[in-house]
This record gives sequence, structure tokens and C-alpha cells, in this order.
Amino acid sequence: MTEHLTVVRHPLVQHKLTLMRDRETSTAGFRQLLREISQLLAYEITRNMAMTTRRIQTPLCEMDAPVLDGRKLALVSILRAGNGLLDGILELVPSARVGFVGLYRDEKTLQPVQYYCKLPAELGERLVIAVDPMLATGNSSAAAVDLLKKAGATDIRFLCLLAAPEGVKRMAEAHPDVPIVTAALDERLNEQGYIVPGLGDAGDRMFGTK
Ligand code: URA
Repeated sequence: MTEHLTVVRHPLVQHKLTLMRDRETSTAGFRQLLREISQLLAYEITRNMAMTTRRIQTPLCEMDAPVLDGRKLALVSILRAGNGLLDGILELVPSARVGFVGLYRDEKTLQPVQYYCKLPAELGERLVIAVDPMLATGNSSAAAVDLLKKAGATDIRFLCLLAAPEGVKRMAEAHPDVPIVTAALDERLNEQGYIVPGLGDAGDRMFGTK
């Protein structure tokens, strides 16, 4: 991918996103839409993924047919909201390896602190797609990508549902080599760090917590 930020303007993506933004959408509806939209965003972010061929027999003849080199893909969910994107993408690429990164914000320093990290082996040989629905300040996303790079990843992409300009700028400064795919670039962050107009707290909306 060459663009640093790709906004997927496909009508299906935009329609589903509007339903997700609507405060009247139920938890079950939100979760289902997130699963569907994650697959449409995955379609975009997995363009030019590593391919290999497999010798198969069609009803007419043998052929070397193209298949995904699925073992070369690692999906990394940034907890907890990343899991909502992860499930849908895994349906599309079931052989992908999966990692998890957990970060919380230190109330004093306001910096992200790692509380969990479990990553697949050989990250340096894989396309690594980090997933988190909301790219807000970009602090935790940048920290998560730092972790992935420390673990050896060199080919990293970031998939989110919504991005704020502040988060895109932060990521562009910290990780200009990491392309971002999103369904929308919203206006701004509010004082609490929420994306506006946004959709609220993605984790709360998908898990029904407050
Ligand atoms: N995280 C969320 O869940 N929502 C926002 O608007 C910003 C960060």
C-alpha cells in the first residue's frame, strides 16, 4: 500500500457505519454490523497480500491455482475493542495467526502502559494487521505498533473503523511506514478524547457495558 490513510468510501461500508453511529442501534446490531464492516475493510487492507499456488484438479484438467499464503498473515487485536474487528476478519482468513496487545492509560502520565502482550512467532516474516475500531489520540495505537516493531514486525498495517485527524497525525509522525485503512475520518476529538461525531465508546457499544 502506498497511501498512509485510505478511507473506504464504498456505499455498503458507509451505510453500515451510519447504522453503527446511530445511538438507537442495539448491542447485538452493533456487533453484527462491526463483524460485517470488518470484512469489507479487510478486503481493502489485504490487497496485495502474499499469494502462493496450489496444484488442483478441476473437472477438466490440472492447474496451479492461486491461494492465499494464509500462514503469512498475523492479526493483532488491540484489547478490548479490537476483538470486535478480529472475529469478522478471521472468518475471511481462518488460517491467520492471532496476537493480542493490552494497554491502559496511566492516569498520572496519561501514557499507555502495557498489561498484556501475546504475539505469534516469526512476526518479521508476516504481514501484520493491527486492529482497533477507534483511532482517537493515536497514543495507544502508536504504542501498540512500537511493541509489534520491537517483536520484529516490519510489514504492519492498521485497520480501524473511525479515525480522528489527531490520531492519524500521531501515527503518521510515529509510524509513517504503517498504512491505515478506515471507514471514515471524523472531525475531531472532544475534551474527553472521544471522536466527534463518532459512535461513542466502541467497547461499551459492542459488549453492552458502560
Ligand atoms: N475510543 C472509543 O471507543 N471511542 C472514541 O470515540 C474514542 C476512543
